[in-house]
Amino acid sequence: MLLPPYVFENRRDRVKASLPDGAVAIVAAHAEVVRSRDSDYPFRQSSDFWYLTGFTEPDAVLILQHGVPDRLVVRPNDPAAEVWTGRRLGPERVRSRLGIPDAHPLNALDALMDEALANADRVEYPFDCIRSTRLAEAAFQRVRGQGRKRQLLSHRVDLGLTLHRHRQVKSPEEIDLMRKAGQISARGHLAAMRQVEPGMTEDQLASIVEHSFRMDGSPSVAYQTIVGGGENACILHYVDRSDRLRSGDLVLIDAGCEWGGYAGDITRTFPVNGQFSGAQRELYDIVLAAQTAALADVRPGLSIRAYHETAIRVLTQGLLDLKILTGTLADAIETKAYLPYYMHGTGHLLGLDVHDVGFYEDNGSPIALQPGMVVTVEPGLYISQHSDAPARYRGIGIRIEDDVVVTTTGHEVLSGDVPKDPDAIEVLMKDRC
Ligand code: GLY
Ligand code: MN
Ligand code: MN
Repeated sequence: MLLPPYVFENRRDRVKASLPDGAVAIVAAHAEVVRSRDSDYPFRQSSDFWYLTGFTEPDAVLILQHGVPDRLVVRPNDPAAEVWTGRRLGPERVRSRLGIPDAHPLNALDALMDEALANADRVEYPFDCIRSTRLAEAAFQRVRGQGRKRQLLSHRVDLGLTLHRHRQVKSPEEIDLMRKAGQISARGHLAAMRQVEPGMTEDQLASIVEHSFRMDGSPSVAYQTIVGGGENACILHYVDRSDRLRSGDLVLIDAGCEWGGYAGDITRTFPVNGQFSGAQRELYDIVLAAQTAALADVRPGLSIRAYHETAIRVLTQGLLDLKILTGTLADAIETKAYLPYYMHGTGHLLGLDVHDVGFYEDNGSPIALQPGMVVTVEPGLYISQHSDAPARYRGIGIRIEDDVVVTTTGHEVLSGDVPKDPDAIEVLMKDRC
């Protein structure tokens, strides 16, 4: 656990402060998922549950109520099972390790849920969590009496509405973890720039990035690493990675590690042979200019939508300058003529989830950025082989992505340890051994 127990206690207290009297909050850990017969996917804790407990074992359940000690239900110690699948904390050590006062084994879960619901008049759980939803629904089914059951069913509330507002603004401790995620992620990209060679597969280059993450102590990637050479860079979430990298092509790497549960999310695009061609450089300069302009708009009071519009203006002007688009800037923006070449947003919230929870709009108006929000800034241009663009630009995909925390006066880039200036990239790649 990289944060002390009081941090999680404060978060639980904040959730309870938003619960009306008579409400119960239920937040479940994830369960393991089978990959193939007896083999499971690597376990990743539910972000909401992690945020409130710091506990990374599967199957546990957190129950919060006013006037009742916070309650955690966990897998029991079981020496025979632990020989096969690893150590378990067990209920006896929950208080000393996690600072949660009341712990029980899983076989007590149904009775504890029934007891919590017995006098409740409102039940809150994150509606986007399948296991929390199933546990709550199962408990409703056990309630005796149609009237009482209907009363509870009609007082279900999405805990995400408050919890995700809390998660949307990061505390100084969280920002420290995200700074480290940014640093480790950046080093992985640096390793790729230094070690890439024509003829290598995309997957081999991904393994260099991920090896660096792991050697720096990160237990996991935050999402599947994207490595796309040449036109594969035009596939936004390309995870196939089976092609060989060719001299003369660019390669796009979108990769981030996880640190303390928090995601890094960095994209860099660079030449496989260390030198940009003329056409690659022309497009790259436009994307970099768009990113620079968008970054300047990351400050309190502006919004993700505002810096998206800034990026669109710069990208669209660039497409006009290169004669990939024709007409006026105003028309091209109005008709969204840029969409075949730029089809995604310029940023998203970042945190325990790579596309983090939180709110982008309130009644149709964009939510203003505020200090502690962490966002990405990631414009790109994707000129498919099948596009109408001049032939020299076809088959080139470029994205540049950084992670940025909003500060009181502007922002701090968390992922700046890997170059994006094209001259700096060429120098770095020339000097590599
Ligand atoms: N890595 C996914 C994204 O940039 O949104
Ligand atoms: Mn991103
Ligand atoms: Mn990304």
